[in-house]
Amino acid sequence: MVDAATLHGAGPGPALTIDQTVRIGRLTLRNAVMPASGTFAETLAGIVPFEQLGALVTKTVTPQLRGGNPTPRVCEVGQGMLNAIGIPSKGLDHFVAETLPLYRGVPTPLVASVSALSADAFADAVRRLDVPGVAAIEANISCPNIEEDGKAFAMDPRPTALVVEKMRRATSLPLWVKLSPNTGDVASVARAAEAAGADALVVANTILAMSIDIETFRPRLGNVMGGLSGPAVKPIVVRMVYQCARAVDIPVIGCGGIATAADAVEYMLAGAAAVQVGTATFVRPTAMLTVIDGLVDYCRRKGFARVADLTGAIHDADLTVDTHEAAS
Ligand SMILES: Cc1cc2nc3c(=O)[nH]c(=O)nc-3n(C[C@H](O)[C@H](O)[C@H](O)COP(=O)(O)O)c2cc1C
Repeated sequence: MVDAATLHGAGPGPALTIDQTVRIGRLTLRNAVMPASGTFAETLAGIVPFEQLGALVTKTVTPQLRGGNPTPRVCEVGQGMLNAIGIPSKGLDHFVAETLPLYRGVPTPLVASVSALSADAFADAVRRLDVPGVAAIEANISCPNIEEDGKAFAMDPRPTALVVEKMRRATSLPLWVKLSPNTGDVASVARAAEAAGADALVVANTILAMSIDIETFRPRLGNVMGGLSGPAVKPIVVRMVYQCARAVDIPVIGCGGIATAADAVEYMLAGAAAVQVGTATFVRPTAMLTVIDGLVDYCRRKGFARVADLTGAIHDADLTVDTHEAAS
């Protein structure tokens, strides 16, 4: 039998060396795999060698000290989990003084995730994060905007453009903008972020959801509603990555329900330049390492010399895309 690698011209003989590096704007990452914000901390170091990951993305930090939401903050649902943690944070000063030094000497770009309640507060936070040790900023704009009645910035293009413009003026660091899936038109939000100066997009945060305990008649989360993550969200977010990648020229980083290399490949074929692994790490702390190795195996099997060549390699040129038609 002729295998795919041979068909693609890789031929038999010594195993094809796969270039795992990917470029996210100005940054070159050693591979395409990194943790999703909030699902990773320095305590994972004993299990996952940080120098094997493409980047390290920290838990979202807010300007000031913040408590979280009422408990319970997480619950399991079919094929995923709900969380309403509420971004508890020790604040930016603590992050810069105490958290950042923990990563000193780790040869992996550190991406600081940040959130704030207004565009000016975002800009100020980003300015304060422009310190040695931070390789890029990931702006979590899926949070409530107090200037818009608590509606998340990333739900609409206009507040997205405003907050990204202000952050862009406040830092020269690479600026990644993490979008929300809780919008009707993610491609327009993506375009607004790009036009305002984002260097990359992370697609996406959790999907607004809810679960009720039918024995107690109580919502299963203390916050009533929360964010859905895990395998359940993958087809929805793959679709969003596909839409965003077609809408913008900057790199899109896929995030939602990735647990295996096959999941990561699907995101990359849809247009992702890299991927983030979240909930899967709670189930299997070494999930990211499995994804890294599996991407190499997949490339070898399919005859791709570079993991980056998977980005946008979907075969769809002969197909027409009509989202309205698809939804009806
Ligand atoms: C417990 C938990 C905490 C999270 N905290 C954050 C956070 O602080 N900032 C953020 O941008 N996203 C946060 N997220 C969202 C994840 O980064 C990711 O976008 C989402 O979970 C989808 O990926 P997954 O299906 O691989 O988990 C959190 C998710 C979970 C499950």
